Amino acid sequence: KAKRKAIIAGNWKMNKTASEAAVLVDELVPAVQDAGCEVVICTPYTDLVTAVEKTKGTNIHVGAENVHFEKSGAFTGEISADMLVDLGVEYVIVGHSERRQYFAETDQTVNKRALAALNAGLKVIICVGESLQQREEGVTEELVRMQTKIALRDVTAEQMANVVIAYEPIWAIGTGKTATADQAEEVCGQIRKVIGEVYGEAVAEATTVQYGGSMNAKNCEELLSKKDVDGGLIGGASLKAPDFAVIVNAAT
Ligand code: G3P
Repeated sequence: KAKRKAIIAGNWKMNKTASEAAVLVDELVPAVQDAGCEVVICTPYTDLVTAVEKTKGTNIHVGAENVHFEKSGAFTGEISADMLVDLGVEYVIVGHSERRQYFAETDQTVNKRALAALNAGLKVIICVGESLQQREEGVTEELVRMQTKIALRDVTAEQMANVVIAYEPIWAIGTGKTATADQAEEVCGQIRKVIGEVYGEAVAEATTVQYGGSMNAKNCEELLSKKDVDGGLIGGASLKAPDFAVIVNAAT
């Protein structure tokens, strides 16, 4: 349907030990081998080596779930973009609402992380999205516009080729409550509009905008049929190979 290649990305969150990751990747490899979309798995740091090793020569790309914005130094417990690149990691999620909510990340630090990752050669999946209260107050569009604009500050038009935006309404994450396909389409379209205002029509049309939030094997087809929804960022359903495969195979 779209001019853009869909990207289906799993976000494993804080799940799977390295040994469990090995089992899951072994199940995923045959299950998604005929995908018509780009397939990404974003895993905990401790699973990355296993994931990169086990996906060599397959169509699965590996991502991390976060990255620090400084190049190196006295930042105990943090991981730099260069460390990820050196492992063979290709993608990184930045600004997930769980990071913003529990780890005090802000639009400003999300922007710094995105820049650090892009400058190191990683592809970034930048997450934006409103809370239930914000939706009820009618500020979803303004909020998502602001989050998107600030996250992309100083990102060049060329670098936009390595940027994916994921619209994840917070009220739909891990709740089993999915945004309707029309709600997802509306906000993904607004995000594309903001990108167009900043970078022009061509970049906006080329940028992948995903939906995330309780996407599963049952509801994926309808969500993915929408013209501005170019794939999904999948939490819970990415932890089961058969479910993730159904979503991957629904995307083109
Ligand atoms: O990043 C993916 C996400 O937050 C959605 O999680 O479990 O609702 O699919 P889930």
